[in-house]
Amino acid sequence: MDSPQRKKRILVTGGAGYIGSNTVLQLTDAGYEVVVVDDLSHGDRRSVDPRILRVFDLHDTEALVKLFDAEPCEAVIHFAAFTSVAESMRLPEIYFQNNVGASVSLLTAMLRCGVKYLVFSSTAAVYGIHPSSPISESLPYAAINPYGDSKAMVEKILGWFDQAHGMRHVCLRYFNASGADPEGRAGELHYPETHLIPLLFRAIETGIPADIFGDDYPTPDGTCVRDFIHVTDLAQAHILALAALLAGASSAKLNVGTGQGFSVREVVQAVESVTGKTVPYRIRPRRPGDPPVLVANSSKLQNTLGWKPKYCDLRYIVSTAWSFAQKHPSTPRLQVPVR
Ligand SMILES: NC(=O)c1ccc[n+]([C@@H]2O[C@H](COP(=O)([O-])OP(=O)(O)OC[C@H]3O[C@@H](n4cnc5c(N)ncnc54)[C@H](O)[C@@H]3O)[C@@H](O)[C@H]2O)c1
Repeated sequence: MDSPQRKKRILVTGGAGYIGSNTVLQLTDAGYEVVVVDDLSHGDRRSVDPRILRVFDLHDTEALVKLFDAEPCEAVIHFAAFTSVAESMRLPEIYFQNNVGASVSLLTAMLRCGVKYLVFSSTAAVYGIHPSSPISESLPYAAINPYGDSKAMVEKILGWFDQAHGMRHVCLRYFNASGADPEGRAGELHYPETHLIPLLFRAIETGIPADIFGDDYPTPDGTCVRDFIHVTDLAQAHILALAALLAGASSAKLNVGTGQGFSVREVVQAVESVTGKTVPYRIRPRRPGDPPVLVANSSKLQNTLGWKPKYCDLRYIVSTAWSFAQKHPSTPRLQVPVR
């Protein structure tokens, strides 16, 4: 009798985080076996099945090698990073150390253990400020904050690993991840929270006004315009990128967004309409490092991988996030690892 085919095992770094935990669900649904490495510096233990969670810092190359020896993986999806633009402007050193340093540690372990495929969480922040919109991948690197620059550096390192070692990668440059799993299984549980939609919910919950940074940008209503991509559509892009790499595709850099921009004020209106409550907010000065408009041209992703976003309606995005937030009211973090 034939033995059943072994499931392909995928390492997901940062899988206790927002986008990682949503992607783990879809990987499992797609028939992959998953192992997660997360140091819980920003993620939430409750977001992952404890049986697949390994808690350590990716700087620990030896721990990664041990993991690959014990649980051989076909590929890695690398979400783990620090993600706040504002924090990166104040503390660039920790962004380069964690986002670049830990990535090099991961790549070194992959190389030692013969793991040849990686899907990398990159960002629209690699582009900086461009007059053209929507943004396509042909634009040069021009990050205006250490966070975006740390991601651009990893993209370049991946290029060298491809050339020197034949390690294939897909860099997915996300625009603004938003929403929650439509079945309510995963969503945003950030400590501290930095993303607009959950911050607006928190303002409703606490009555403390949310900060809106800048209302004098060259945009129709003066607030920043962003491309809000539903986290389920985003996770699906990873599944497609992974399948393409495993089937022998070349390395690529691909935008992931809807191509549609919404201003911060429009998001406030959508939150008020979905929740039926008024959002208290106050206008603050512009934040250093924030480009006025970031909207994706994702036609390369659509054409090469057949990806198509399903959840582009802003009210739907907000309503999935709201359902999740109501089941998970903001709680103080339970555990802060010492770095
Ligand atoms: N959320 C967005 O809108 C957005 C947009 C563009 C790109 N990205 C990228 O997507 C990825 C995931 O973002 P997210 O919003 O889910 O963030 P998140 O903070 O929820 O998840 C990141 C996870 O990585 C873990 N982590 C960080 N450093 C680690 C280390 N050295 N070792 C082990 N674990 C570590 C954290 O504990 C956390 O669980 C990040 O790389 C981010 O830069 C996010």
